[in-house]
Order: sequence, then structure tokens, then C-alpha cells
Amino acid sequence: MPTISNRGKIIPESPIRKLSPFAEKAKERGVKVFHLNIGQPDLQAPPQALKAIRNFNQTTIGYTLSQGIKSFREKLVKYYDKYNIDIEADDITITSGGSEAVTFAFMSCLNPGDEILVPEPTYANYKSFAIAAGAEVKSITSNIEDSFALPPIEEFEKLITPKTKGIMICNPNNPTGYLYTSEEMNKIRDLVKKYDLFLFSDEVYREFCYTESPYISAFHLEGIEQNVILIDSVSKRYSECGLRIGALITKNKEVRHSVLKFCQARLSPPLIGQIAAEASLDATPEYMLNNYNEYINRRNFLIDGLNRIEGVYSPMPMGAFYTVARLPVDDADKFCEWMLSEFQFNNQTLFLAPASGFYLQPDKGKDEVRIAYVLKKEDLAICLKILEKALKEYPGKK
Ligand SMILES: Cc1ncc(COP(=O)(O)O)c(C=O)c1O
Repeated sequence: MPTISNRGKIIPESPIRKLSPFAEKAKERGVKVFHLNIGQPDLQAPPQALKAIRNFNQTTIGYTLSQGIKSFREKLVKYYDKYNIDIEADDITITSGGSEAVTFAFMSCLNPGDEILVPEPTYANYKSFAIAAGAEVKSITSNIEDSFALPPIEEFEKLITPKTKGIMICNPNNPTGYLYTSEEMNKIRDLVKKYDLFLFSDEVYREFCYTESPYISAFHLEGIEQNVILIDSVSKRYSECGLRIGALITKNKEVRHSVLKFCQARLSPPLIGQIAAEASLDATPEYMLNNYNEYINRRNFLIDGLNRIEGVYSPMPMGAFYTVARLPVDDADKFCEWMLSEFQFNNQTLFLAPASGFYLQPDKGKDEVRIAYVLKKEDLAICLKILEKALKEYPGKK
């Protein structure tokens, strides 16, 4: 029998989805499972997007330009302008989700054997996409005690070798909800400049910043304009995960040219997705504010509730819609599996994502879970009750 590739062997399973078979079995037993494991927003997509899909009246569902529909990219320029991100339509390449943007960024910038540095816990798929490009991810651990702030920049510098090609950040952060300060972003900028690295900046949670301090985009950093590759997506900001529309933005023409060739090879991003995403840019400020307020309320409610449970600790996340919480358990992987396979309270249970899968270094985050607050407050209240009960009954309680 022919054997699969080494890449295929080492690519990790998604920490978010690996317990799905246990959740499916629980559902088959008639247990209601609350999904706090996956970052799929439950709020309504902009009505403009839904209307655009309903009104689609072309008789052929065709390809578009490989780099994306021009009018969409032009309209995005105005959207970014609101965030003081000064780019042109040609700097933007439309991709099939932020996922494809990361893939094409790595494929275009990294050679097999090259390394990138990532603060962890991190969005786990960066490692998968790096493996696809034959590159390696080196991580620097941030800690729950200081709310997952950027680790000292010297820790990054220590890992830099001739193979280091870039730094990958996610801001606001998935899984921690941390929002980098301007001081931290300037430190990253200085390092990028000193070693002439790429800065891959995943800003798909831009809309969800809950602090007075400003959101700093990688494009706000002076002197590294040619180094920045911004990753974006409509999945989170408009509750449009299924549209599969994202963007890769860079002023670096050489990178863009390479990315375009990858885009040409996969022909086109989704047509209907682009039409709906373009219409979403007309979402009213009221729509955006309502969603924003909803997430703030959920965050406040969830974090307060978590910290009231004995032995549980969660920092207050300043962005995105996740938190990483510490639980009084021997092993969060076992605990999450146990909740799905052996525990129920009033015929209900929880699906949480064990945080170990968001760390690249072994044995980190053993007693941590990532919780996505993508359910309404009434459901979060039930989830908190279930968690409290589960922690009381779990045999591996610390
Ligand atoms: C940080 C981050 N980047 C990128 C993505 C990819 O999103 P999509 O491919 O749906 O645009 C996600 C999805 O969860 C994410 O959390």
C-alpha cells in the first residue's frame, strides 16, 4: 500500500474539533450539548448580505478575477480607511477565508525549513498551514497570570536563527482574547525591522476590541510597510463563517505577485461569497454597535461567572470572543472528554476546547480550556451552572 506524506502524518488535529465524536455520541444519547468550543458567531449576519444572496439573479455562477472582484476590493479600501489603514485596492487579494490567506502568505514567503515565531497559546491552524509550506513554528509562551500579555521581546530574539523568516501574531488574540498594546506592537516592529522579518498579522477580530486603548494594526507601525502581511476575514465580524471570504493585504509587490500566482492556480474565490461580503460593508453602524454590545455583555457575564466558581480563574479578555480559563482539574483534555462522555446535568453538558492544543510546547496549558462566548447570555448562565456541577463531580479534581 502506498504511504502518505510526512506532512500528512505530522499535521495536528484541530484542538477545537478533536472531541467532536464524543459530542456526537452524547447527542445520540439525547444529551443537549452546549458548544463553547468553536468560534462560530451566532448573531445575525447583516441584512444587506442576506438580501444580496436572495437577490442573486445571474444564470451562471461563474469564476471571478483570481484576486477578487474589483468593486469589492475598492469598497474595502474605504472600510480600512475607517481604521486608519491606508491601502489601495491593488494591495488587497480576496481569498477563500482568512485560512487561505494564511496558507498563501506562508506559501509565498517561507521556504521549506524556514521558521516563524509565534507567541503561544496560538490559533492552532498556523502550525498546520506552516507544515503545509514545509516551515516550522517556534513558540514563546505567554502566561495566564499576566493575562497572556506579549512575552518579553528578548525571548523572541533568543530564538532567531538564519532560518527565521517571520513573526506571526493574532491581534485581538484567538484563543486568549488579549489585545496588544502600542508599546508591545512597537517592540514587535523593532524586532521585525532589526532582522528584516515578515510580520504576519491576523486581525480578523478587529471589530471586537473592548478597551479604551486603541487597536493597533500592523499597518500602523512605521518603517515596516514592506514587511507586513495582514490577514483578514468576514467570518467573525459579520457572522459569515460559511461565506468563505477573507483577504490578504500587503504593500509588498513581490509577495503580492507570488500570492496572485497561488490565487490563479485555485482560479477564483467564491462568487456569491464576495457579493454578500461586499454588501456586508453597508452594514449600519447600529448593526455593528448592537453586536459589539452583545459581545461585551456576554464577556462581562461569562468572566464574572467563571471567577465565581471555586478554583476557576479567567483573566478579563480585551478583545475577540474567547477566553482561556484555568480549571481545578488534573488534565483539561480528560475533563473535556469526561464532560461529553460521562457527565450530564439535567440532561445537558458542555463542549469546551482543551487549551493544550493551542500550545506548541508539550505540557503547557494542561489545566486550561478555551471558551468561546458565542451563545446568548441565558445559555451562558446554564453553561456556568453545568461547569460548576461538573467540576464538583469530576474524579480528577485538583
Ligand atoms: C485567528 C483566526 N484567524 C483566521 C481564522 C480563519 O477564519 P476563516 O477561514 O473562516 O476566515 C480564524 C477562524 O476561527 C481565526 O480564529
